[in-house]
Amino acid sequence: MEKHNFVTIADLSKEQLLYLLEMAREFEKHPNRELLKGKVVATLFFEPSTRTQLSFQTAANRLGARVIGFSDAKTSSTTKGETLKDTILMVSNYADIIAMRHYIEGAALYASEVAPVPIVNAGDGAHMHPSQCLLDLYSIQKTQGTLENLNIYLVGDLKYGRTVHSLIMAMRHFNPTFHFIAPKELAMPQEYKLYCKEHNINFKEHTKFDANVIADADILYMTRVQKERFSDLMEYERVKNVYRLTRDMLCNAKENMKIMHPLPRVNEIAYDVDEDPHAYYIQQAKNGLFAREAIFSYCLGYTLDDIRNDKTIIE
Ligand code: CP
Repeated sequence: MEKHNFVTIADLSKEQLLYLLEMAREFEKHPNRELLKGKVVATLFFEPSTRTQLSFQTAANRLGARVIGFSDAKTSSTTKGETLKDTILMVSNYADIIAMRHYIEGAALYASEVAPVPIVNAGDGAHMHPSQCLLDLYSIQKTQGTLENLNIYLVGDLKYGRTVHSLIMAMRHFNPTFHFIAPKELAMPQEYKLYCKEHNINFKEHTKFDANVIADADILYMTRVQKERFSDLMEYERVKNVYRLTRDMLCNAKENMKIMHPLPRVNEIAYDVDEDPHAYYIQQAKNGLFAREAIFSYCLGYTLDDIRNDKTIIE
């Protein structure tokens, strides 16, 4: 059984991504199994989380594994000065796989270099969020019927939003056209624009956000302004309400356009949008369960055939 880390989406080929999405599809058909019975999964969250933490834990539980971990590093020996390396080595003594979120960019990569068990990156600073990315791809493919040739509008905090950075990298295989809508303070960082150029990804930049700008969107991907990443809170105050999607702005939207958001939201989507058929963010978060079941299985060495031939399904 070949085990894998899941630290960045950038390393995965088109075939690997499609394979993982196929796995997620199998898990959506049958989410409850005992495929991971006898395994212990650790979830280490050095930063707050609702969806990612709980859906990783749910994925482990629904596959028959047991879960250990912490949701607040203040309750761990990190507060006594224990290093990340020692924490990871200790938890590797107890668990078969570790899903971790950390505020430092590159923390998961570092953990994967020292850990004897697979590491799953559940978000590292403003850098990457590969499990969110897999569920985003799954949601896009499920709603649009394809990942190819789509117009994807990324709106809001494109500077600190790790989910949009991961999405650009993953979509490089599928000939997207990206539209980056952000105020100049939160514009897509140069390194990701350079990445687009190097990978022949079309993109346009906008500062205006209205019904006409988004009329051509297949996916409208809203993001929260990431207060926790600002060193200057005055700057956060200046930009925090810069874009707000309201229901009237959907008047020109394509019929099958879907609004996505990694969540949590603050002010960037008005609550009445939830009732609109374009809204997809709640279902998107649900897809996280199937994507994370796929990630645990893949990292622990299970194949698509193992999942298709699995006799441990609980109906
Ligand atoms: N999408 C996401 O990462 O949400 P949480 O911060 O609640 O895990």
